[in-house]
Amino acid sequence: MDRLEIRGGRRLDGQVYISGAKNATLPILAAALLADEPVVLKKVPHLNDVTTTVKLLRRMGVDIIFHDGVRLEVDPRGITEFVAPYELVKTMRASILVLGPLLARFGQADVSLPGGCAIGARPVDLHVSGLRAMGAEIAIEQGYIRARAKRLRGARLVLDTVSVTSTENLMMAATLAYGETVIENAAREPEVIDLANFLVSMGARIEGAGTDTIHVQGVDSLAGTEYTVLPDRIESGTYLVAGAITGGRVRINHTCPEHLDAVLAKLDEAGAKLTMGRDWVELDMAGRRPKAVDLRTAPYPAFPTDMQAQFCALNAIAEGSGAITETIFENRFMHAQELQRMGADLVIKGNTAITRGVAELTGAPVMATDLRASASLVLAGLAASGTTVVDRIYHIDRGYECIEEKLAQLGADIKRLPS
Ligand code: EPZ
Repeated sequence: MDRLEIRGGRRLDGQVYISGAKNATLPILAAALLADEPVVLKKVPHLNDVTTTVKLLRRMGVDIIFHDGVRLEVDPRGITEFVAPYELVKTMRASILVLGPLLARFGQADVSLPGGCAIGARPVDLHVSGLRAMGAEIAIEQGYIRARAKRLRGARLVLDTVSVTSTENLMMAATLAYGETVIENAAREPEVIDLANFLVSMGARIEGAGTDTIHVQGVDSLAGTEYTVLPDRIESGTYLVAGAITGGRVRINHTCPEHLDAVLAKLDEAGAKLTMGRDWVELDMAGRRPKAVDLRTAPYPAFPTDMQAQFCALNAIAEGSGAITETIFENRFMHAQELQRMGADLVIKGNTAITRGVAELTGAPVMATDLRASASLVLAGLAASGTTVVDRIYHIDRGYECIEEKLAQLGADIKRLPS
């Protein structure tokens, strides 16, 4: 397996361009199944999770062409299979996002249960109960969700928990259902809005995306479209933390500052000088050591769980003590023991990581366990003295496009060690 070798202790100084959002691209690719004609997507990031989704769609008979490496054309007219098999779903739980579109467009879907992952049990009960409420016959057997429906009908759905992909799956299913669907307690993430904008560009009738109540009026069919995916706010936050943790200066371009409010507020609290424009943010520590911050993760627009691990790394070298509480997933501190091996003074109490900042971390061989934990180990390596080798970085390649090239652009001493 590839590894990343980082020689730390260098103050980053430079600028990077942010890629399209992984967590918008995945539902939008699934939504292409709803169309009667091809769709063209731009700013699709080159990520393993995108490759996995393309493989899944191609396996169904969807024709996908990458034009000049920038425009992705997805033509669902040749689809012959309505199955998301275990061998693909087990590598990417977001495959569940094909369930709603397949059921709404073709009346059938056999999707493997994703199973848990490193950060938690990750149940899919809200996806299943919502589709049942819309009239789907769903059996869970031999590890598969087997769903059938002549035509889904609109319903009023109240989600017990704010769930991003449940909101997305049900919103996609509702676009071709008969009548109106109302999704209460919907997720408000920018990626949900981006998916809704994509669906509306295909002719869907959706109101309220980005609020906790989404109204969808079902239509008979959806047309092709051309759409540009929004910038990745988690990649954006990760590079800003890279600047903060090294006491440096980083400017991120082609981003959406308005999607970063909770993260920027915490970076400001940590002592960063922040300036921004319409599509860029610059962070400057001017050599200062960050101050420790307290935070709690929660659904958007509150502090994102996908930035929690990165702030654990920042707190590890910050001045003072900080408490980081994870309220979304039950096991999302897998980075803690690896940070401790690098010298972090960090203890986990229940769902809170309490850190006393140390002046310096020391480089060490560490192992990635999930996407954002891996990112936090890379960040710690950038700040640590000596060399850090992060193993199992296939986790990172799922969600960060060309991470070593972008960090090298910022002045990091980092290279990929082929397995
Ligand atoms: C999405 O996952 C993101 N993935 C995750 O990003 C992100 O961490 C998460 O939302 C929270 O923001 C994609 O968008 C592809 P949830 P999702 O359903 O939708 C519970 C990354 O690093 N729940 O919002 O799977 C669940 O257990 C990834 O890019 C149910 O109980 O997360 C959790 O406690 C990691 N039943 C809470 O809801 C269900 O049917 C929120 O999970 C579904 C979820």
